[in-house]
Formats: sequence, structure tokens, C-alpha cells
Amino acid sequence: MEVLDIDGLDYDDMLQQLSCLEPGHSIELVGTRAIVGLLKRLLQDQPLRYELSTIRRRPDEWRVKVIVFGEEEPRSVTSYLGRDHDRLDDLLQQAVKLAAHGEWAETQSLIADFRDGLFWHIEIEERLLFPEFELLSGSSAGGPTEAMRSEHDTIKECVNGLVEAAGAEDHDELARHHADLLGVLVEHNMKEESILYPETDRALNGSARNLLVERMMLGV
Ligand SMILES: [Fe+2]
Ligand SMILES: [Fe+2]
Repeated sequence: MEVLDIDGLDYDDMLQQLSCLEPGHSIELVGTRAIVGLLKRLLQDQPLRYELSTIRRRPDEWRVKVIVFGEEEPRSVTSYLGRDHDRLDDLLQQAVKLAAHGEWAETQSLIADFRDGLFWHIEIEERLLFPEFELLSGSSAGGPTEAMRSEHDTIKECVNGLVEAAGAEDHDELARHHADLLGVLVEHNMKEESILYPETDRALNGSARNLLVERMMLGV
């Protein structure tokens, strides 16, 4: 993927670079500072042209994937977070393949991207999506989101195991944590994509849906 270093670029420079991109293309913004302000302005100026996915958010390292949409495709929780599941599945699959070939440096880097991306995905679900779902469906303690939160804890444990195994270049441990992770993640994602996301979409009108997806893109 093409990379745009945004350190030293102001908003207009960034906008100009992005406006050269054809629909269907994506680009990764990288920088050493928080860029929520820039991204917020981008979504205000061109509400449906860009989709933003966080790859990494650390105090000194920000990476955001920007996909350009040609048509003014309406936003939905199902397509936004479903695409993020696919992106993360691809990263994990690539990492496991590289580990099988003993390419540990690449494996470690992909597993780190997978961990940061998945932990951020979980954070926006727990902080922004689940409270909205609980409000809309009138469910709270004991409801579906409680089960999803508990699965998130298990998922995180498995991912931390993967990170350790990749760091130790231990193929057997990596395979074990990978199998444990798939044992919970596959069904978890399926339940979200077939129940929780579409039910949230159905309960919101177009502008409320758009607003919720934008909040998840920005993490606010
Ligand atoms: Fe989840
Ligand atoms: Fe999810």
C-alpha cells in the first residue's frame, strides 16, 4: 500500500495528496503525532469520500488506512467493521504463513500490526458500539454485549500469547495460540456480523448510522 508521511504536512497538503487518488485506492497515513483533528476535518469536508481504519495508535506512532470511495456509498456498521475483520484476518493469515517459512522478523512485524489493529477494533466496539447497542435494544447486564466483552478478554489473551510466541520464534507455541484464537474469534466475528452489527444498523436512521461510523473511524 502507498504510504504518505504526514509529519510536516498541513491539512491542505494532505487533502491535496488524497484528492489525487482514484476511487477504490487506499493509502496509509503515517506520522509521529496524533492526527484526530486532521481526520475530523477531512470527514467534515468530504463526508462520504473516505473510509478511515486505524492500523496503529501509539503516542509517537500513528498509522491510518484511508480507502477512497467513488460513489457516495452510505455508511454502515456492518460494512465498516466487517471490512476491518477481513483486514485483520488477512494480516493474521500472512503472519502464520511467514512463520511456517521461518521468516520471523516479518512475522513479528505483522503480528504487531494484527495486535494493535485488533485491540483498537475491540476498544471502539466496547467504548462506542456496545453502549449504543445496549441503548437501542434495551439490553445491558446479562445481554449479548456482556458475552462479547468476555470473549474479547479471551481473544486478547490468545493474541498476547501469539505475540510472545512470535518473539520467541517458537513455532509450536505460535500454532497453539493461533488455534486457540481461531476457536473463539471466528464465531465471535460471525455473531457480530450476523446479529449485533446489522441489528444496530437497522435500529438507526441514515444520519445516526453515519455519525456512529464516523465516531468509530475517529475513535471519539
Ligand atoms: Fe468484537
Ligand atoms: Fe468485531
